[in-house]
Parts: sequence; C-alpha cells; structure tokens
Amino acid sequence: MYDTPVSSVAAPPAQPVPFLDFSRQFASIRDEVMSAIEEVCVSQRFILGPEVASFESAAALACAAPHAIGCASGTDALWLALAAAGIGDSASSTRSTSQHAVVTTPFSFFASASCILRAGARPVFADIDPLTFNLSPAGAKDVLSRHPGTLKAILPVHLFGQCADWDAFTRLQQHHPGLLLIEDAAQAFGATWAGIPAGGLGDAAAFSFYPTKNLSAFGDAGLLTTRSSQIDRRARSLRAHGMTRRYFHDEVGWNSRLDTLQAAVLEVKLRHLPAWTQQRRNLAARYSELFLAAGIGVLTEPGAPRTIADGIVLPYTAPRAQHVFHQYVIRAPRRDDLRAALSAQGIGTEVYYPLCLHQQDALRDLGYRTGDFPEAERAANEVLALPIYPELRDDEQQIVVEAIARFYA
Ligand SMILES: Cc1ncc(COP(=O)(O)O)c(C=O)c1O
Repeated sequence: MYDTPVSSVAAPPAQPVPFLDFSRQFASIRDEVMSAIEEVCVSQRFILGPEVASFESAAALACAAPHAIGCASGTDALWLALAAAGIGDSASSTRSTSQHAVVTTPFSFFASASCILRAGARPVFADIDPLTFNLSPAGAKDVLSRHPGTLKAILPVHLFGQCADWDAFTRLQQHHPGLLLIEDAAQAFGATWAGIPAGGLGDAAAFSFYPTKNLSAFGDAGLLTTRSSQIDRRARSLRAHGMTRRYFHDEVGWNSRLDTLQAAVLEVKLRHLPAWTQQRRNLAARYSELFLAAGIGVLTEPGAPRTIADGIVLPYTAPRAQHVFHQYVIRAPRRDDLRAALSAQGIGTEVYYPLCLHQQDALRDLGYRTGDFPEAERAANEVLALPIYPELRDDEQQIVVEAIARFYA
C-alpha cells in the first residue's frame, strides 16, 4: 500500500516537513486572489463595503445561518456574540457588575474564556470528553445544576475542527429555558454535526480567520453568525461603536469592522474550501492508516477507550460529526521527547495547548486549582498536532510517520 515499508527505513529524513506552509496554497490561487485585491485597491474603499457584504452572504449560506457579521478577529466575534446576546454587561457599562456566568472548556485557546470576562461575565469551566477533547456535556450539566439562575450560556469549542456533541447540548438547552448556546467555531469552518454546519447549530457562533486557520485571511479577521435578527442588529451596531446612524451612538460598542481587503481574500478562499477540506480529511485518514500499518497507532472509541499506555492514540471522530481536521492531533507517549526528536529532524509539530485555561496565571482569580479538570490536564500533557494542510504531500506524511516510528523503535 505504501512506497516504502515504514519499518525498513533506517536513515533519518534529509527533507524537513514544515508544520504549516501556506505559500503552496497561495501559489495555487495567486491570480484569483491578486485580482480580488486589485479590485479593492482600485475602488480605494478599505472598510466594510460591498466586498464585506458579499462575503457575509456567502459565509451565511455556507454555515446555513440566516445572518453573518464580519469583524476584526475571532476573539472579537466571540465578544460580539456574547455582548449582542445580552450576556455580561460590557456592552452597556464600562464597569462589570454582572452576575452572569458562562460555562466553557478549560482546554482551548485563551480567547474562549477571556471573551467571557471581556463581555463582563464569569467563565465557569467543566472538564472535557477525553475522546474528542471537546467540552463534556455531562460536565456542563453538572455545572448547570450547581449554578442555578446565573448560568446564561454554554460556550462549547469545536476543537481541532470537530463539532462538540450538539445533540447533548441541545437537550441541555431544552431543559433550561433561556440558556443560550454559543459556538466557538474558530477552528471549524465547514465542519458539521448531523449534517448541520458549524455556525448554524447554536444561537450564535464565532469564527476566526487568523492566517493559520483552515479558512484564513491575510491578517486578522473574524465572523459571527446567528439565527437571531436581534443579535444580528446589535452585533452590527456594536462592531461600529454602537452607531446605527453616523455619529449618533446608541450604546458603547467597539471598533471591530472587517477590512474590505480581508473580505475579498476570504471570499476567493471560501470557494476553494470544500476541496481543501476534502484534502484534509484524506490526509487525516492516511495518517491513521500509516500509524496502524506501522503498528504504533491505536484507535479509541466510546466502548474501548485507549490511552498512551497502548501506543499513539489516533484522533476519534464522533459518528454524527464531520471533522474538517483543522488539526490532526494524536496523544503521544513521552510527547515532549518525541517533539524534540522530530524538531531535530526538521519536522514541525505543535502543542495545542500545553497549559489549561484554569491553570493560567491571568485567570488565577477564578479560584481553580491543578487537579480540578483531570481530563483536560491529561490532554495538555499528551497531545501533539502533526503537519496537516491541503497541500501536504504523501511523501511528507510518510516522512513524519517514519520518524515517529523510529523514535518508538
Ligand atoms: C478556539 C479558538 N477560539 C478563539 C480564537 C481567537 O481567534 P483570533 O485569533 O482570530 O482572535 C482562536 C484562534 O486562535 C481559537 O483557536
């Protein structure tokens, strides 16, 4: 099945494998992107405008969401979603007096929790599901029962490109009238749960187009989607200083407009995203095949959970989820030593994330301690993201797997 059997390769690879290489993607769409950029330059209109409106419509369609609002970053999109939904009091006051709380995961990028504080509410953490790394619905349910009244929303993160268990979160919402579901879909444009795209699942959702994301801008950019026309109206106002009429301010908002150039680039890339996503899925499937063939990978699933005592634990995809593999993340025995060995051979990897949010110095005031979320903490010690991007070549994947096989030999 493979050109060279993994076990027969003894010499270290001469060829480095970068963790990310977007220059290959740029080369493949250069003419389209440059002509979109040129059109904006000719128009000399750089803030919002028809390109932003056009990208918003295309993104709303792709997410099966009635409304999409472009903004300056994924972090802002999260804040706008919360503020426009009336969670916290940052949109109506400059000093937080809110008792509102929002439950989220401690195993994510910092913005998943900091946006809650910025909105003027309090983040409350629940542990993760060890199979998917996503917020555990059972953990969120337990938190809900301990914070009656103050918990206004659940903010699950579709980590690494796989939607959180939306059936379970929808059931929780049904039992708690008024509770909102806000998706942190920063890593999951194009992912689906039961056929419904990320961005169309919750009351509102936030996307990041940071340059390393699976749909990426040429700088910072973000998007909020929502099914609520009220959230749509308020988010549009909040992203432009609470201003619906020029220089008349209804409330204190922020400057979080989406640049016209970014929208023009994003709309070109959005047209290619389905093909790129398919490539990512193929690459993920091939990684798993290679690890299994090398005898060092193990599959994990609900009835038969596996740990690093069994080998490299390969990514698990829930039956109702369509994973976009923004990242291909394994659990690896002796993770840090493996990472150093790969790095010495020019193979790039990343650790998302080495320290959980409840252990961050900046969030010490929340009162959590090491040991509070054992699954999240275990994941932080074991996860390793391998190179994955649509243009990654078969021979590069093989080099990565062979190097890992040699490390464990
Ligand atoms: C899960 C998650 N949430 C939020 C963000 C914030 O997005 P941005 O960097 O565009 O502000 C990111 C980006 O890294 C992310 O990965």
